[in-house]
Amino acid sequence: MCFLKGATVGYDTVNNKAVFVDQTLLPSQYREVSTDDYTEMFEAVKTLKVRGAPAIGVFAGICTAVLINKIETDDYYILISKLERICADFVQCRPTAVNLKWALEKMLDGGRKSTPQNLKKNLKTLALKMIEDDISVCRKIGEYGAELLADKNAILTHCNAGRLAAVKYGTALAPVYIAQEQGHSIKVYADETRPLLQGARLTAFELVNAGIDTTLICDNTASAVMAKGLVDAVLVGCDRVAKNGDAANKIGTSAVAISAKHYGIPFYVCMPFSTFDFSLNDGSQIIIEERAAEEVTDFWYKERMAPEGVHALNFAFDVTSSSLITAFITEKGIIKPTEIKNYI
Ligand code: MRU
Repeated sequence: MCFLKGATVGYDTVNNKAVFVDQTLLPSQYREVSTDDYTEMFEAVKTLKVRGAPAIGVFAGICTAVLINKIETDDYYILISKLERICADFVQCRPTAVNLKWALEKMLDGGRKSTPQNLKKNLKTLALKMIEDDISVCRKIGEYGAELLADKNAILTHCNAGRLAAVKYGTALAPVYIAQEQGHSIKVYADETRPLLQGARLTAFELVNAGIDTTLICDNTASAVMAKGLVDAVLVGCDRVAKNGDAANKIGTSAVAISAKHYGIPFYVCMPFSTFDFSLNDGSQIIIEERAAEEVTDFWYKERMAPEGVHALNFAFDVTSSSLITAFITEKGIIKPTEIKNYI
């Protein structure tokens, strides 16, 4: 089945289904899943079948519309209370990415402002608009970023903030794709990104498929390639940014930023403007998702590789201090940490 045509998530409005690429199967298997089942949707986000901040936001929007359109009643109060419950459950799936909250609040708001007659249709329209907006926002990020990369040969990235993390283009990799469209090829060093290997499985998969020169490195190799002068800039995605510019992203990002600062390499955070969470003063207020210890001790190994009884700490994200960030690349333009106050 091929509904998505290169996108990561989509809305099959004819059959009222949410469609997604199961990213846990990549790179060995590309499978599109089509569902209107609440538990399957919820599990898809929890288990990272759908992952990446913008993608989970848009997916949640689509799922909300599908689930409400599936209900065989037009009773406004039943529909609204169902919508409220779905949003309250969904938002807890992954607490760090603000995009999930943002998307669900938009759906909830849209539902509450609807009449009984147009509620279902409005949610459908909102979800479709979210898909379109994500594509155009990421393209803009790519255009601004490509200007910054005009004189650069190689970047380093962490985790996957490419097209698999959004609907299309992605955030951190969007400048690379747009530069490629403009005839400028940029080499990418991709951190493998322990423990779930989003860099090795996903970033490498999508970049190689796009014909981009990609070198996979172990996470602990990042500062070595910087020291050798092989990296001209670091581009990463982001899950939430506090008012002071502290930015949460995949665990390991802050270590990359510290190395980049040490070697005088610009460190850019690429994201939709909606990733700013102005309700938070600084990064210490960002909730960091903690995941199962087995992702560290067992995943990817034929048998458990760490002794029974050892503790494993599995923070899924960390916070990079704004003092390490050169600028945020957003659809509104390039914003330095000191300029954030102009947007509040
Ligand atoms: O746990 P994941 O795979 O959802 O983490 C993804 C990241 O940390 C991305 O860098 C971030 O969500 C930005 S995606 C454009």
